[in-house]
Amino acid sequence: MKRMLSGIKPTGQLHLGNYIGALSHFVEYQDEYDVYAFIANLHCITVPQDPEELQRNLRDCVALYLACGLDPERSTIFLQTDVRAHAQLGYIMCCHTYLGELNRMTQFKDKMAKGEKNLSGGLYTYPSLMAADILLYDADYVPVGEDQKQHVELTRDLAERMNNRYGKLFTVPEPLVPKVGARIMSLSDPTKKMSKSDNSDKGCIYLLDDLKKARKKVMSAVTDNEARVHFDPELQPGISNLMQILSSLSSNRPMGDIEAEFEGRGYGDFKRAVADKVCERLDMIQTRYREIVEGDMIRKALTSGAEKASKIADAKLDEVQKAVGMEIKY
Ligand code: TYM
Repeated sequence: MKRMLSGIKPTGQLHLGNYIGALSHFVEYQDEYDVYAFIANLHCITVPQDPEELQRNLRDCVALYLACGLDPERSTIFLQTDVRAHAQLGYIMCCHTYLGELNRMTQFKDKMAKGEKNLSGGLYTYPSLMAADILLYDADYVPVGEDQKQHVELTRDLAERMNNRYGKLFTVPEPLVPKVGARIMSLSDPTKKMSKSDNSDKGCIYLLDDLKKARKKVMSAVTDNEARVHFDPELQPGISNLMQILSSLSSNRPMGDIEAEFEGRGYGDFKRAVADKVCERLDMIQTRYREIVEGDMIRKALTSGAEKASKIADAKLDEVQKAVGMEIKY
């Protein structure tokens, strides 16, 4: 069975973009692949965090993994810091990453361009750690949204570099980016990605948003004056974004189908249909989430996940350290 690995960095609450672009696919792939899904808490601290809020977000993230349908019986769910090999291989990968490569990473470049002050060294070298996350498990596939594709491509380059230098160490992974919903946009500014760090709360639907609030966000989403439900991300970014959301939440319903259903009807009708779908899905997730946080499932899932993941990761780290010549032979 091919192996698949991915993670989410809960620097804030998980949102609909995370769900549509990534999490819903981890769940889907469970039948077909050996899925490893982790909570990237080392990546979280690359930007300043309030410790109490971070703890809550980590717990909520695991609870949401489970509530969205990740099944600890079939998949391995773990916290990144429970597997020490991530930080260790992360350092080794960092020593094999060129400054030029890190300088080309658009996420870091964007933050620099915004003039953000006091960016950390961890944020800069984050792609090397992400490479370690993936390579430790010899993952064949990495399901991610579009914004993370560049990091997986760097991972491929690093894997090939190390394989050429030290002999075959790593499986070269492939990014799996969904055809629909790989980049869900902000509802208040559809030219920007929906993101945890969205300045206005209106643009981002959180998985734990109150349903009335979520409905209101959809109903007040920015659209255009074209007065037709048509898929054209250039000309109608707001409407096209809502179509992507509707399509993804309805088993990738074709855009032509949606256009036909709403032909000659107003944006109000269309937005109501999107809001209904979003609220239906959030309601399902939130009901399950409430059951999960009350029980003992989180602790159990993370304990068995850490044990299973550590075995694989520790063995790979050992193999790498040996190949690089970092261990003494007696
Ligand atoms: P993160 O936490 O920013 O995002 C988690 C996943 O959600 C996807 N995503 C989106 N997809 C569609 N539309 C959006 N608006 C949207 N926003 C986010 C992301 O592409 C991602 O798949 N570096 C990673 C976490 C990570 C990781 C890894 C992922 C660390 N190590 C190893 C895969 C493999 C991150 O910050 O994702």
